[in-house]
Amino acid sequence: MKNFIKALSVLLFMGTPFVACAAQDDNKQGEEVYAGPAAAHPARANLLRIVGERAPKEINLALKVLEASYEAEPRGISGSQYGLSFPITPEILAQLMEQCQGKVVAGLGAADGINEILLGLAGAKRVYVNDIVEAEINRFMGYLNSAQLQETLDKFVPIQGDALKIGSYIPSGTVDILYARNLLHLLPVNKHERFFEIAKQLLTPDGLLVLSVHHRASGLFSGDPDIFCFNKETVVLDVFNSAPQTLNTHLCPSPQQNGDPLAYTSTDIAEFGSGDGYPNGCKLYKGALNAVNKELVPVLLRYIKDNRATWSALSQLQPGSFKIRVVKNFHIAYTADRITALLEDYGFEPVEMSFINSKGHTSTPEEGLFINIIAKRRALRVAPDVFRRIADRRIDQGKPGIIKQCCERLLYLFS
Ligand SMILES: C[S@@+](CC[C@H](N)C(=O)[O-])C[C@H]1O[C@@H](n2cnc3c(N)ncnc32)[C@H](O)[C@@H]1O
Repeated sequence: MKNFIKALSVLLFMGTPFVACAAQDDNKQGEEVYAGPAAAHPARANLLRIVGERAPKEINLALKVLEASYEAEPRGISGSQYGLSFPITPEILAQLMEQCQGKVVAGLGAADGINEILLGLAGAKRVYVNDIVEAEINRFMGYLNSAQLQETLDKFVPIQGDALKIGSYIPSGTVDILYARNLLHLLPVNKHERFFEIAKQLLTPDGLLVLSVHHRASGLFSGDPDIFCFNKETVVLDVFNSAPQTLNTHLCPSPQQNGDPLAYTSTDIAEFGSGDGYPNGCKLYKGALNAVNKELVPVLLRYIKDNRATWSALSQLQPGSFKIRVVKNFHIAYTADRITALLEDYGFEPVEMSFINSKGHTSTPEEGLFINIIAKRRALRVAPDVFRRIADRRIDQGKPGIIKQCCERLLYLFS
């Protein structure tokens, strides 16, 4: 085993470009160990160090997952409405991997579960991976099946479905680390209460809730710093209606506060082709520009002007197969203060906060696209039955009013 670890360490620190090396393992037969170029990065090597003294097949699985997710380009979630899966944050993941030995982990909205797989490989005893999209759960199972390790497979539990209805699939009060990366900002505000109820139900009393959300101060969100609700308009080049590519993201303050981030509207702006219907290679849809924000109009017109020759040539075989669309949805972004207040409203307190840049690394607040928070349940400082007694007495005395409401709220926060 020692030789195997040594061989792996040498590979990791030398920065060996894509080699497959037959590592000698004293206990097991020599297995192929795969190392990609980024395996040499210290943060990445650190993750592998934590995966540590494991079977070569498990190390291979860790490397495979890291290859797909370390400083990776964001990957579109299967289906269109759920946004992107972002690269792992090695600094936070390393910390969780250090803490998860023998613990129970659950990932909500975990997409293909890459973070959770690493936590499982680092020694978590049970790992639940939830996502609402079946294809993402299938990707997750694909990773596990490729490892062909029964003991490894046994500890992972896929749960496909709505995270807000997950209660009956995981025993209450058993989860030590609940990881919900970039899920909360996809939920309408009126689902926040349910989200935190689920978190409370699943976590052990000392369990950690690990969350990330869009950061309000990131470069993406310019303008009035007091505005948190936006309409996000994403300009998409849709090739053969099957390979949408984002060209631009535009945000403007949203008049509504409680929209559904998953409710998209899609407006076709123009299609490209040649022949009669396509003057200068482009057919502009009548009135479509009226449906988007006026700041976005010059941007769209510039895309069309700069690219119509190329796009119309590319769509020769099938006129109209290249389209520009604008996809619009409601969006919430958070500052550190706002996410802290939200957590406190629902009975959690942040114990650690960091910012995450587009490569997935922890960063300065200015560079941070996301805020990551590690939170715990608020400590119980007064016994809940005190609140209950006060609340009940007020009801008895026929004075429910504000004190009752306060006590009910406190009971909610601390129970
Ligand atoms: C923005 S992606 C983030 C994926 C991954 N956690 C990451 O950080 O890369 C949001 C994920 O949440 C999933 N999702 C959205 N709503 C959900 C819900 N109600 N229950 C479970 N998963 C949900 C989507 O399918 C998607 O995989």
